[in-house]
Amino acid sequence: MIFRRAFPVFAVALFCLMSVSHLRPVCEKLLHPLEQVDPQIFQGGLAFVAGSLNHQPSLDALKQRDSITVYFSNSTDASRTTYTQINRFGDQCQHLPYNITMEGTTFNFDVANRFQLEASFRYTSCPDCVVMQWLVHSEKRRSLELYLLSRRRQVEEKEMEEFLDQLWCYNLPPPVVMDPTKELCPKEPQNTTTLAQGLAEKQDQ
Ligand SMILES: *[C@@H]1O[C@H](CO)[C@@H](O)[C@H](O)[C@H]1NC(C)=O
Ligand SMILES: *[C@@H]1O[C@H](CO)[C@@H](O)[C@H](O)[C@H]1NC(C)=O
Ligand SMILES: *[C@@H]1O[C@H](CO)[C@@H](O)[C@H](O)[C@H]1NC(C)=O
Repeated sequence: MIFRRAFPVFAVALFCLMSVSHLRPVCEKLLHPLEQVDPQIFQGGLAFVAGSLNHQPSLDALKQRDSITVYFSNSTDASRTTYTQINRFGDQCQHLPYNITMEGTTFNFDVANRFQLEASFRYTSCPDCVVMQWLVHSEKRRSLELYLLSRRRQVEEKEMEEFLDQLWCYNLPPPVVMDPTKELCPKEPQNTTTLAQGLAEKQDQ
């Protein structure tokens, strides 16, 4: 009698153990920080394809953007690079340049003490993509964010599935997927009209 009652419990426990040990290596691979990213990928800029984060107001803010482009560029000092993010809202383009400090493939945004943003790259099998992880930390906000960027506007289904697996491993909500038919903004500001607030500041609510 005791044995009969105990057996299903044992079976369930064994099943859970098996599924955990099966999934853990997959997540370890998918979330492993990259030590190297081919700098060629950044040439000519990257478009945001999809992203998710665990801070609802910021996720809502992401949905407001029609397209997002990112350029990394070198400055004279090797450890200093700039990160420029260009957001499109309808016919408005918002250029947001940031100085970043690289440490290997991890970088921090130099934004005085307004907030802390530490970015790094994660595994992807997509040849012209990067998966960028952000940890944002400020008085009002603490978020983990994962973005899929590509030189293309849209990725293959299996590449998107891999990204969905990464979100699942982090327990992040379903992603905001950017509309590939929306135009990207030009790299250089065309117009003196600029929206005053920065990306993370705007999201930091
Ligand atoms: C910065 O410049 C160096 C030398 O020109 C180059 O090897 C490296 O890939 C560049 N890094 C980026 C992020 O563009
Ligand atoms: C980046 O750093 C340079 C040199 O320190 C500074 O002149 C410039 O204003 C900074 N840009 C931004 C966007 O913080
Ligand atoms: C700048 O933007 C304003 C408002 O969107 C627009 O009316 C104007 O034509 C633009 N100027 C140029 C030079 O693109």
